[in-house]
Amino acid sequence: MTQLSYQERRGQIETYFDRTAVQAWARLTSDAPVGRIRATVRAGRDRMRATLLSWLPDDLRGTRLLDAGCGTGALAVEAAKRGAQVVAIDLSPTLVNLARERQPSDLGAGRIDFCAGDMLDPALGEFDVVVGMDSLIHYQAPDAVRVLAGLAQRTRQAMLFTFAPSNPALATMHMAGKLFPRGNRAPAIVPVAEKNLRRLLAAEPQLRGWHPARTQRVASGFYTSHALEMVRT
Ligand SMILES: C[S@@+](CC[C@H](N)C(=O)[O-])C[C@H]1O[C@@H](n2cnc3c(N)ncnc32)[C@H](O)[C@@H]1O
Repeated sequence: MTQLSYQERRGQIETYFDRTAVQAWARLTSDAPVGRIRATVRAGRDRMRATLLSWLPDDLRGTRLLDAGCGTGALAVEAAKRGAQVVAIDLSPTLVNLARERQPSDLGAGRIDFCAGDMLDPALGEFDVVVGMDSLIHYQAPDAVRVLAGLAQRTRQAMLFTFAPSNPALATMHMAGKLFPRGNRAPAIVPVAEKNLRRLLAAEPQLRGWHPARTQRVASGFYTSHALEMVRT
């Protein structure tokens, strides 16, 4: 299988989240009833969001935060309720519009600027904190690390993101194509072993001066994701 460039992959992800899966994603991220499997995913995602938010200070007034790959905006809303000035960006204009519609009218001292586009756009400016929940899991690990390296140039304090953890058994299944059958139009999640990811992060010149800090795996039925915090040394 040839490896796609970052741009090609990004295009596939945009098509998936803006068209193929937009309705399923809108439902998954709402309170509407879902089947048993999706309920485990929803519960896992709720736990992951709570984990990432628990790593942020309770009082986010004066904090400029990027919700990188915001989807329908749940994390952005929670951060804004704590007073953060949030920029919430996603490749999918449809999800960004939905996020805008779903935001509560009163965010207290916080605010959210929603944008459709690439989280790497330098025009977004500088941030104290970047959070990317499950937004890098569809990229090859070296591309995900390059995205983090790019974001690090504009981040003052911390980057919180998740990856899809892999183990040798999962990697073998993945290579055999059993996990992601042909014809499945979803851009496959690309699992990476934590050890390999840490090695790539440590080897990236633009991440000199950063180191991994807190880490937490969340497993709930059909959802498994692993949060990692990168902070300035
Ligand atoms: C699995 S969803 C997660 C959405 C949201 N963070 C959440 O947890 O509900 C991944 C999102 O990341 C977005 N995404 C992926 N790559 C991106 C990029 N380079 N710039 C902006 N958004 C991106 C996708 O469009 C998609 O909406």
